[in-house]
Parts: sequence; C-alpha cells; structure tokens
Amino acid sequence: MKKWLEVEHISKTFYKKNNWFKKKQYEGGIKDISFAASESIIGILGESGSGKTTLVKVIAGIEKSDKTSGRIRFMDTKETTKNHVSLIFQDYTTAINPEFTIEEALLESLEPIKNKAEALEKIISMLERVGLSEKYLSNKATNLSGGQIQRVCIARSLLSDANVLIFDEAFSSLDLLTTDRLLDLLLQLKQEFDLHYIFVTHNLKLATYFCEEVIFLKEGQMVEAITTQELMSTTSSYVQELIDAQV
Ligand SMILES: Nc1ncnc2c1ncn2[C@@H]1O[C@H](COP(=O)(O)OP(=O)(O)O)[C@@H](O)[C@H]1O
Ligand SMILES: [Mg+2]
Repeated sequence: MKKWLEVEHISKTFYKKNNWFKKKQYEGGIKDISFAASESIIGILGESGSGKTTLVKVIAGIEKSDKTSGRIRFMDTKETTKNHVSLIFQDYTTAINPEFTIEEALLESLEPIKNKAEALEKIISMLERVGLSEKYLSNKATNLSGGQIQRVCIARSLLSDANVLIFDEAFSSLDLLTTDRLLDLLLQLKQEFDLHYIFVTHNLKLATYFCEEVIFLKEGQMVEAITTQELMSTTSSYVQELIDAQV
C-alpha cells in the first residue's frame, strides 16, 4: 500500500522560561519520532502525558517541531489547499465560537465567499451529509449535544477542503452509542471524500476496532508502530501491558 504520511525524526521540546540560572530545562514533549503511514486510519495511543497531542499538533502544523528535527511529509494529498489537515479536539464546548450560529461558523470555513446563496447551499448539503438538518443553521453550538457539535466540526473540516482529519480524543467524553454512530459516519465519509484519519485515543479497544495501524507513545517516545492485526503478537512489553490491562 502507498504511504500517505511520513514523519521523520520529529522532536518537540518544551522549555521552562523562568529558570535563568539553569539553561533551558526539559519539560516533556516528544523525542525523535519517525513512522510512515500507509493505512488510511492511524491510531495514536499512550498514557496521558505521553506526547500524543504534541505529536498531532506538529503534524497539523499548529506547533513547530524543534529546529534540529526532521520533517513531516504528506504524499498524494491535495497540497494546494490551505487547510488540508484539520484537527478536531475533545473539548467541543470551545470548538465553535459560542457567539456564532452554526451557519456563521460554517460560512467562516468557506471564506472568502463570492456567492452567499451558493455557500449556504453547500453548507446545508454538508450538514445533511453529516446527519444534521438545515434547522440547525440558526442554532448556537451551546444548544447542541456533544455528538452534534462534533458533526458540525467534521462538516467544517470537509467544507474547508481538509482530507486529513485528526481526532484528538474527540469522542472520549461521548457515550458509546454516540461514538459508535460517529465512527460509522467517519467510515462512510472516508470512502466518499477519500479521507485519511489520525485517531488519538487512550482506548485500545476502540483503536483496535477503528484503526488499521497504531502508534504507541511512552514518555514522548514511540515504542511501537504496528498494524492492529498484528497487535496481539507485539514484542513490546509496554504494549503488552496495555493489552493486558484492557481485557
Ligand atoms: N505548551 C506546553 N508547555 C510545556 N510543556 C508541555 C506543553 N504541552 C505539552 N507539554 C508537556 O509535554 C508532555 C506531553 O504532553 P501532551 O502532548 O499533551 O500529552 P498527551 O496528549 O499524550 O496527554 C507532557 O509532559 C506535557 O506536560
Ligand atoms: Mg492529549
């Protein structure tokens, strides 16, 4: 299978700023992470504080990697579009400006807008595609459920032409049924829009069900990159420990 993402020797170091007598002090981050993704749904797993969010922020270009770092390469994606990577976070309460209606929030993703009627039509058809009807346009995000807001976030990503969607624990606080429906939707959208997903989670069961390939982080370092099919034959004692802990 063809690679679509290459992460080469990526490090991100955080430094304490208020410590003048010791030079910069290490606080966490990620260290020398390399992997190539060929499957279209990649999972990133690891305990809290292991560097998952830092890694996906660097992949999405929100956070800069260290100067001495290697590089991130997206192959075969629509490099010309400005937002081809879109990050969807767990905290859906802040994902959408609470002052905005859903219409305003989604219109923003289509800017600059030449023809408002056309833009609205596009928005409505995308809303319907993610399982929400036109009637939500005038709602503010605060009136929507967590699952509905995540649907709006997915619609927004697709409207802005993203084809790599990164979910950082995006469904972690949603109930099982809502999560299940969202995963179903993601599988459909993946086919329809030819998308790639990076799925950050601490839930190994969910990752095994949804992802084709998983990366494990521990204390900022990658300890395993393995297909979910091969997971049971891992040679990493850390991954084995996580598997044992979940059964
Ligand atoms: N902006 C930051 N400044 C300083 N340290 C940070 C910052 N962001 C993350 N870290 C540290 O980097 C490590 C990894 O954090 P994070 O990527 O958020 O982990 P995870 O998402 O796996 O919980 C943690 O030790 C965290 O404290
Ligand atoms: Mg995190």
